[in-house]
Amino acid sequence: MTEQPLLNEIKALIKSSGPMPVWRYMELCLMHPRHGYYISRDPLGREGDFTTSPEVSQMFGELLGLWTASVWKQMGSPQFLRLIELGPGRGTMMADALRALRVLPPLYQALHIHMVEVNPVLRERQNATLSGVRNIAWHDSIDDVPEGPSIILANEYFDVLPIHQMVKREHGWHERVIEVDPNGKLQFGAAAEPTPRFDVLLPPLVRAAPVGAVFEWRPDSEIMKLATRVRDQDGAALIIDYGHLRSDAGDTFQAIARHTFTDPLKAPGQADVTAHVDFQALARAAEDVGARVHGPVTQGDFLKRVGIETRANALMQKASPEIATDISIALKRLTDTGRSGMGSMFKVLGISEPRLTGLAGLSDLEHAGDGS
Ligand SMILES: C[S@@+](CC[C@H](N)C(=O)[O-])C[C@H]1O[C@@H](n2cnc3c(N)ncnc32)[C@H](O)[C@@H]1O
Repeated sequence: MTEQPLLNEIKALIKSSGPMPVWRYMELCLMHPRHGYYISRDPLGREGDFTTSPEVSQMFGELLGLWTASVWKQMGSPQFLRLIELGPGRGTMMADALRALRVLPPLYQALHIHMVEVNPVLRERQNATLSGVRNIAWHDSIDDVPEGPSIILANEYFDVLPIHQMVKREHGWHERVIEVDPNGKLQFGAAAEPTPRFDVLLPPLVRAAPVGAVFEWRPDSEIMKLATRVRDQDGAALIIDYGHLRSDAGDTFQAIARHTFTDPLKAPGQADVTAHVDFQALARAAEDVGARVHGPVTQGDFLKRVGIETRANALMQKASPEIATDISIALKRLTDTGRSGMGSMFKVLGISEPRLTGLAGLSDLEHAGDGS
């Protein structure tokens, strides 16, 4: 059997300090300083554990580049702009976005690129992908990015931020925890006492949930940082992730390894553990600090509105028949609105300085590819 140092450490922690809240378990799985999933590896691509939209096709990053250009124009074409990416994976999305932006020299020259990445293996990969790009810096947190007008991009970043899970019992909502069963295996449980008055914080739809229901929430700190930044220093953020438009009950805590769902308690630190993003909660938190909210809309709608079909046709016209088939498959994959298709599972939310209205792709009014 393979060694599982993090599993052993978690069991020891539970033994010494008692059941571990799900958020703490998730944090250790992903960010443990030695054994955390995102500390030690490049998990992306066919050979890895999962494939993200930028890795499906160059069109994704190129269209985010065009979206950036359209927002920059709405901001009054400032001569200095920070383009920040949160959790940039292999750097593919930034490379594709920058290629699209090269055709606009006044914007390209205004750019200062900031990559917010904790994973040293991926940082190295990003460095290689973006070699030759000037004015680029890496940071552990958005807190470390200097002030200034900014456009912030985050694809599949919020889903890795730890969640709290609450379980409804007869007398209230209890924090969901991880404990060790008599056979030495990890299992879910619930804190002995309910969290006092937790139901006051719940969206009305969830208050009536039946006993046994699970409700997930993420601290608002990260979204509030983004919203405060664009509100005070000008700019906008685009958040793309799998998740739900409305806050609701449901257990979405999941683990993926080798492109397959696995038991999130089985091999801590060796699978990507994530939970769906509650877009209504993100929007509410951003509005609470006074930022303007745009959308959310589905990824399929967003990509079509910013011109993915036009871009796919242009690429296909210049491509060999085999490559044209690949482009057509990628287009379908990114925009597929079937039940578990990326076009409907993934949502897109914009937040901005309040005077920016009608951001491309997020309202029916604008089109990033229109040259507007
Ligand atoms: C699911 S991957 C998405 C990668 C990329 N955005 C893409 O779409 O291909 C999550 C990314 O966030 C990074 N990450 C995870 N936790 C982070 C944190 N707390 N702060 C900054 N980056 C983090 C990971 O190393 C990785 O680059």
